[in-house]
Amino acid sequence: FKTEKSRHFITTQDFTNEEIEMMLDLARDLKIKMASNIPTPYLLYKTLFLIFFDQSTRTRNSMEAGIAQLGGHANFLNPSTMQLSHGETPEDTARVLARMGHGIAVRACEFGKGNKYLRGMASVSQVPVMNLQDDVYHPFQVLADVMTMQERFGKNLRGLKVGISWAYAESHLKPLSVPQSQILLFTRLGMDVTLAYPEKFDLMPDIVKQAQENAEKYGGKLNISHKMEDAFVDAHVVIPKNWGGFFVSDDPEEIKAETAKHKDWICDEEKMKLTRPDSVYMHALPADRGKEVVDSVIDGPHSIIFDEAENRLHTAKAVMTLLMGGR
Ligand code: CP
Repeated sequence: FKTEKSRHFITTQDFTNEEIEMMLDLARDLKIKMASNIPTPYLLYKTLFLIFFDQSTRTRNSMEAGIAQLGGHANFLNPSTMQLSHGETPEDTARVLARMGHGIAVRACEFGKGNKYLRGMASVSQVPVMNLQDDVYHPFQVLADVMTMQERFGKNLRGLKVGISWAYAESHLKPLSVPQSQILLFTRLGMDVTLAYPEKFDLMPDIVKQAQENAEKYGGKLNISHKMEDAFVDAHVVIPKNWGGFFVSDDPEEIKAETAKHKDWICDEEKMKLTRPDSVYMHALPADRGKEVVDSVIDGPHSIIFDEAENRLHTAKAVMTLLMGGR
C-alpha cells in the first residue's frame, strides 16, 4: 500500500473495497507462484513477532510458513514466557518489539480484553499490528473465505446467497469473531447473507448494525432467522459452525443446557439437499464432527474446507507483504 505510516490489520472495516481486492489479487498471484516454485522474496530479512494467547493450528502455521516463504523470519512468542505475564503493558511491549522487527501479529480472544489489547499495541506501534483473532474480529479468516468463494464462483460475488448458522455453544462468546468478520465483509461485497441461530445466540449488536449499514451502502443483504433451514434454502455457500452467542450465559452448565435444546441444529445431508446443486460447504475449522456436522457432509462433494484452510496461507502472505512494505 502507498502509505505514510504503518497500517494495522485489526478489521477489514479499516480497508477500502479496492484495498481488499488488492490483497486478494496478490494472494492469488502468490498461490500461483508457489505452485510453480517461483520464489517470492518480498520480505527478505524482515522479522515478524507472533504472540498467541490462545491455541491455533491454521493461523500460526499460515503466518510462520508464510513469512519464511517470503524470505523473512517469525519469532513465536508464548505470553507466559514474556514480561507481559508480569503486567508489562501492550503499549510498552509493542514499542519494544517495533524497535526490533517489522511486524507484530497477535491472537488474543479473551472476551472484553482481546481487541483492547490489539488496539493498545496499534496505538503506539511504528510497525503493523495484525489481528490473528480477537474477541470481536478474525480478519485473516474472512479474507481466506472470500478468496475460496471467488475460486468457486468467480471474482464478482454480488448476489451470492450465503447461509451462516450456529446453535452449539462449546464455550462462551470467544468464537463470535468469525461470523462477525464474515457478515462485515460479505455484505460489503454485495452478498445476500442469511444468519440462522436460536434466540439468545445473537452476535454483538453493534457489529450487526455495522453489517446492516454495509449491506445498505454496498447493495448486499443481511437476513436473520431462528430456523436453521433458512440458511440452506437455495444457498450457494453454507457455513454452519459452533459459534456461541452474545447473550448465552457464561455459566458452563447453562451453556450445556442451552446447547442440549438444539441438538437438531446439525448440518446433515437433508439440509444440504435444500441448497443449490453447485453449493459449497465451508468451515473455518477445527470442526466438531458429529455435533455441528456429519462426516458425509464435511467429507462429501460439497465440502471445500481444505481449500479454505490452504487459502489462509496465501492471504496471510498477501497481507504481510502489503503491510510490511514488500510491495
Ligand atoms: N480457523 C482458525 O483460525 O484456525 P486455528 O484456530 O487453528 O488458527
